[in-house]
Amino acid sequence: MVEGDFFTDIPRDWPGNPWLEGRTLIRLPSAQERPTHMPRGPAKRTGPGFLNPAMAPARTRSVMLLTDALEHGWVGKSPIIRAIDVMSATGIRVRRWRNEIPGELQSKLQITANDMDDFALSWSVNSCKKHPAPINQFPISASEEGPVITSHHHDIDGIRFQKNDARIALFAGAWQWIDIDPFGSPINFIDSALQNLARTGVMEVTATDTAALTGSSPTSGKRRYGSTGITDEYQHDDAIRVLLATIATSAAKIDKAITPIIGMFDGHHVRVTVLVKTSKNKATQMRDKIGWRVRNENGVPYKFVVHPNQDEIERATGPMWTAPIWDAEIASRITKEKALELCYPNTQDIEMSKESGLTWTDEDIEYSRREIERTVRHIETCAPLFGAEHTLYDLDMMSKKIGKGSAPKIQTLVESLTKSGHLASQTPTHRPMIVTNASHEEFVKLFKQLIG
Ligand SMILES: C[S@@+](CC[C@H](N)C(=O)[O-])C[C@H]1O[C@@H](n2cnc3c(N)ncnc32)[C@H](O)[C@@H]1O
Repeated sequence: MVEGDFFTDIPRDWPGNPWLEGRTLIRLPSAQERPTHMPRGPAKRTGPGFLNPAMAPARTRSVMLLTDALEHGWVGKSPIIRAIDVMSATGIRVRRWRNEIPGELQSKLQITANDMDDFALSWSVNSCKKHPAPINQFPISASEEGPVITSHHHDIDGIRFQKNDARIALFAGAWQWIDIDPFGSPINFIDSALQNLARTGVMEVTATDTAALTGSSPTSGKRRYGSTGITDEYQHDDAIRVLLATIATSAAKIDKAITPIIGMFDGHHVRVTVLVKTSKNKATQMRDKIGWRVRNENGVPYKFVVHPNQDEIERATGPMWTAPIWDAEIASRITKEKALELCYPNTQDIEMSKESGLTWTDEDIEYSRREIERTVRHIETCAPLFGAEHTLYDLDMMSKKIGKGSAPKIQTLVESLTKSGHLASQTPTHRPMIVTNASHEEFVKLFKQLIG
C-alpha cells in the first residue's frame, strides 16, 4: 500500500473474498485459503490482513460475554461502556460487536479499534464502508474520564479506528472493556491494560505462547510468567491458571482484584476473561488464591497447595491461580440457544451476503450453525463446576492408571456420576476430560463399575 491515510487508502488485494463469521460479512485477502467451518489450530499466515479462522469461536464468545455484561450490568454502573480492541487487525471483532450485539444495547457501547498497522486499519475501514452495520447511530466520542491521548483516528460505522501502539492507546484511560489479542505473549500489555481500566472493568486476554504457559518451553515459562510446568494431561488447565495468576499478581500491585469469568484453552491459544475491580482489601486477598498444583497425592490426581514442600517439588507446577476459574452464574448463560440467537446468520443475513458475492451452499450454512454450537459446547454444564471446587480427570490417563487399558465412554461416565448425585460434565478441551465434584473414591468406584 502506498503511504497515505488508512481512511482513504484502498489496500492491496482489496476487496478479496467475502466470508461470513457469525452474522458479520467480512473480507479475506484472496491469497488466503477459503476457511473450513471448524478450523483447529493456527492456519498458515499469508501476510498482513490475514484472518485466523481458528479464532472465530473466541470472537463469538467475546460477542456473547460483552452482550451478557450489558444485559446484566456486571461491568459497572457507567451509562456508557467504553470497549477497545487494542490490537484489532482487520477489525473483525469490533465489527462483530457492532453487528451482533442487539440493537437496544448498542447505545450503551462506545467502541474503539486500535492497531499499529496501516494495512490492517485500511482493510477494517474499507470493510465498514462496503458492509456497514445495519443501524449507524452509535455514540462515538472521546471520554471525559482520564487523560485523552490524541491518536490518528477516523470514525466509521459507530467505531473509532485509530493508529497507535497498544500501550499508548490504552493510556487514554478508563476503559470498561479491554481486549488484548497479540501475536504471541500478552505479557507486554497486561500492566498498561490494568492501569487504564475503569474502577470496574473487564480484560479479555489471548495468549498464543502456549509452550511457555504449559511448561513445554520451560525457560520462557520461567522468564515470562515465573512458572514451572509439567507437560501432561493437566498442562492446558495449568496454562489457564498461570495466565490468571500473572494478571492477578499485577492487578494486586495496583490495588485491583480479579474475578475470572471464563478461561479456556482452545487449540493453539489460551484466552481468559476477568472482571477487575479496584479494592485494596480484595487485592490483598489475591495472594490466597495463588499456589501450586501437586500431582499424584496418594493416588488422587492432584491437589492445590500454597507452596510445595521438599517431597512435592518434583511433582508441582505453578505458581498459578488455585481458586475457581469461571464465574458460575455468567458462564451458565453462555448457552447454545444464546449463541444461535446472537451469532447465527438469519435468512436476511445470508441473502444480503450472497448479494455481496458470498458463495455459500446450504451445507456451508449448516456447518456454520454447527460451528456456533461447538463454540459453546459443554460451557453451560461445566459452569457450576469450574465456578467452584472440582477435579479434572483425563479418561486416557485414567484408563492407564486404574482401567487396565480401558475406560468407559465419556458420556456414560458423566451420566453415572450425575445419577449418583454429583455434578459432572465433559469439558470443552480437545482431550477426553471430565470435570466433577465427586470424591476421588467415588469417581474410581464408578469408573471401575462401568468397565466391569
Ligand atoms: C492476532 S492480531 C489481532 C486479531 C484481532 N484482535 C481479531 O480478533 O481479529 C494481532 C494484531 O496486533 C497488532 N499489533 C502488534 N503489536 C502491536 C502494538 N504494540 N500496538 C498495536 N498493535 C499491535 C498487529 O498489527 C496485528 O494486527
